Amino acid sequence: MRLLYPAARDTSPEAMASGLRLEERAPAERPYLVLNMVSTLDGKAALDWRTKGLSTELDRRLFHHLRTQVDAVMIGAGTARVERYGRIMKSDELRQKRVHEGLAAEPVAVVVSARLDLPADLPLLQTPEQEVVIATGSDAMLQGTAARIEYLRTGDDLPLLMAKLREGHGVRSVLCEGGPTLNSHLLAADLVDELFLTLNPKLSGGAAAFTIVAGRELVEPRELALVSVAEGDGDLFTRWRITG
Ligand SMILES: NC(=O)c1ccc[n+]([C@@H]2O[C@H](COP(=O)([O-])OP(=O)(O)OC[C@H]3O[C@@H](n4cnc5c(N)ncnc54)[C@H](OP(=O)(O)O)[C@@H]3O)[C@@H](O)[C@H]2O)c1
Repeated sequence: MRLLYPAARDTSPEAMASGLRLEERAPAERPYLVLNMVSTLDGKAALDWRTKGLSTELDRRLFHHLRTQVDAVMIGAGTARVERYGRIMKSDELRQKRVHEGLAAEPVAVVVSARLDLPADLPLLQTPEQEVVIATGSDAMLQGTAARIEYLRTGDDLPLLMAKLREGHGVRSVLCEGGPTLNSHLLAADLVDELFLTLNPKLSGGAAAFTIVAGRELVEPRELALVSVAEGDGDLFTRWRITG
């Protein structure tokens, strides 16, 4: 893998997702929030409704190492359901990296589901070691789960969710792994600070397939500034900061 901008040198997914200290950038009232997505060159976020065909080995390494850089990893219910989410930290090595960087060994998993439409047998919800915050508009509770679950009854109010994560849970940095609908709501609420976007060299077409930001239309297009670009096995690994 080779960094192309802002400087040219060899790099790796592990190096690109180390020492980011995202929490130091957090404003007082909410966590610093970073999106991580992969797309085709025409911006599509899935092939046959899965990310599997888009994510290369290098991208998967970056995906897992970015999780070592934040207090919380967030996903929308659609992504949790389709991708069958499991425990966030996949190995002791990754847990140790987090501790080495001054973070808790396990990040909090935040699942956003207005309707609380989550299967209780989701591996993420069946892991006793996993702390999960479910943000929902429902008054119900899931039955038959094994994870340590807390419900935040924040409805669809994402600014309120972010404020509660910051105040009540000490969450200073969030990595949001999508999906496209949640991304659009976060962007509309002006809660996104950065985007990590892997461009996989495919064109998939189709009007129905989601792009990386779908669902809610943004009143004004968001502007971003390029932070870095790397290339590896034909993928482009880009990092952008939201400006303005
Ligand atoms: N390329 C990538 O990097 C990437 C990443 C993630 C996902 N994906 C793909 O994206 C597809 C899923 O897309 P999606 O847009 O349906 O997923 P999503 O954004 O993860 O989930 C949408 C759901 O999240 C909940 N939600 C979103 N905004 C909310 C808000 N403001 N308040 C409360 N709940 C909110 C709602 O859940 P309820 O309906 O339960 O109320 C909504 O139906 C899959 O094909 C997946 O493979 C791709």
